Amino acid sequence: MTTLDQLKQAASICTKCGLHERRTNVVFGEGDPNSPLVLVGEGPGDQEDKTGRPFVGRSGQLLDRALADNGLSRSDIYICNTVKCRAADWSTGKPQNRPPTPQETATCRDWLIPQLAEIKPWVILAIGAPSAKNLIKKDFKITKERGLYFPCEFAKTAIATLHPSYILRQQNISGDGGYSLLVTDIKRAWETALELRKKHESL
Ligand code: URA
Repeated sequence: MTTLDQLKQAASICTKCGLHERRTNVVFGEGDPNSPLVLVGEGPGDQEDKTGRPFVGRSGQLLDRALADNGLSRSDIYICNTVKCRAADWSTGKPQNRPPTPQETATCRDWLIPQLAEIKPWVILAIGAPSAKNLIKKDFKITKERGLYFPCEFAKTAIATLHPSYILRQQNISGDGGYSLLVTDIKRAWETALELRKKHESL
């Protein structure tokens, strides 16, 4: 068993924060752990909670399309989330997804940081503001700073992009809601990851 498998197994019984009480599955992450590029989203939604797999609902389908528009599939990259359990408001009886709290995010770094340390990606693509705030800088401004390279403790560089669920909310007849930006940011992140790896291999 690899260290990443061991981490996944340990995370599957995590009770470090309140999110464990309502979860069906811990969504640890999946893909190629040897990929030069890791995508880090916000956290699982309903479908992800049910299946234990990241980005399988509506936003996941949009992300798959943006990957495919770059000639990529999930097996080329590794995908995980800022928090590994679904964050939702249950007060009305019908669960409504919500962003993870700063405390939940901080607690789940106990899994995310060792996970990234194990994979050692060349580039991290933070999907959405909460991920960028967690991995790049606290005051990250997603609309102004997406698509730019930032120093990152857990990779050679990190880039952030718009979250597919934000794009889905923005889309209308006259606009793509930022979908083309998602495609461009994935392209930049992937090309940079390949370049950095190649440079290192030729040393
Ligand atoms: N949104 C995310 O940020 N992550 C998922 O896994 C699904 C939806």
